[in-house]
Amino acid sequence: WPVYAQDIDAIMTLKRTRNAVILAHNYQTPEIFHCVADLVGDSLALAREAMKVDADVIVLAGVHFMAETAKLLNPDKTVLIPDLGAGCSLAESIRPEDVRLLRQAYPGVPVVTYVNTSAAVKAESDICCTSGNARAVIESLGVEQVIMLPDEYLARNVAADTGVKVIAWSGHCEVHELFTAAEVRELREDYPGVVILAHPECPPEVVAEADFAGSTAAMSAYVAHNRPSRVVLLTECSMSDNVAIQYPELEFVRPCNLCPHMKKITLRNIRRALETMRNEVEIDPAVAAPARRAVERMLAVK
Ligand code: 13P
Ligand code: SF4
Repeated sequence: WPVYAQDIDAIMTLKRTRNAVILAHNYQTPEIFHCVADLVGDSLALAREAMKVDADVIVLAGVHFMAETAKLLNPDKTVLIPDLGAGCSLAESIRPEDVRLLRQAYPGVPVVTYVNTSAAVKAESDICCTSGNARAVIESLGVEQVIMLPDEYLARNVAADTGVKVIAWSGHCEVHELFTAAEVRELREDYPGVVILAHPECPPEVVAEADFAGSTAAMSAYVAHNRPSRVVLLTECSMSDNVAIQYPELEFVRPCNLCPHMKKITLRNIRRALETMRNEVEIDPAVAAPARRAVERMLAVK
């Protein structure tokens, strides 16, 4: 911790002088999550909180699509991302022209796009969803069939939950696709009594063998309410670190996979972003208007 102290002090001062807030995703490292963030949460919470922020500057400690979502909802604020290279394998997996082709192939079928996409892809969509509200969003449409992009596994997991027929894309999260059903069975053998929580970006056969599946916030809430004495979170590594700090009495088993994109954000580059006011997220207004509509439709779903 002493190695971080100078950066933490500098960030605290810069937040005051710039009238800035830091929004941090659950996958940020503990020194960011617990020491400098003003608001933390899953993608849905960050989108909702971004709307309520009373500051001139938002620093998004997370990946690029999250910063774009914050900018869509705060067009008049300065939104900074400490490293422009913090991408996402799901966002990379699909382009706006792919969505247009799917619409042609399935006329009239609504397009639901996971927030883990570029603003340009959101702009081609009817409504967005996150892992925290995917089921509610799909059910709000009242249709038998949807196109759900770009995460194949999330789409199949939601289809199993809702009974709605889903036309999926072939995108995968490079972190969650690594978990296997065999690994889940080994965990149960090696750690008797372990409660297994999985993110819905995991393959369906992993989710089927887990005790619970939900967004990063839903996993945190599960631990808070059920206090399992031995638990594993099948998701990105920092998530367990952040939750474990709050529950030292619980045993967190730690097979986890690192997200190289999330790990691009550091205290040092948060500090630099606030010092230099770079890198500012900008969205073409022609894309921003329809993309914002898709995000706002999502936020209107209770
Ligand atoms: P959550 O919305 O559950 O926080 O997930 C975001 C994400 O990128 C998971 O890999
Ligand atoms: Fe994207 Fe997966 Fe990283 Fe989340 S964990 S940001 S879905 S690559």
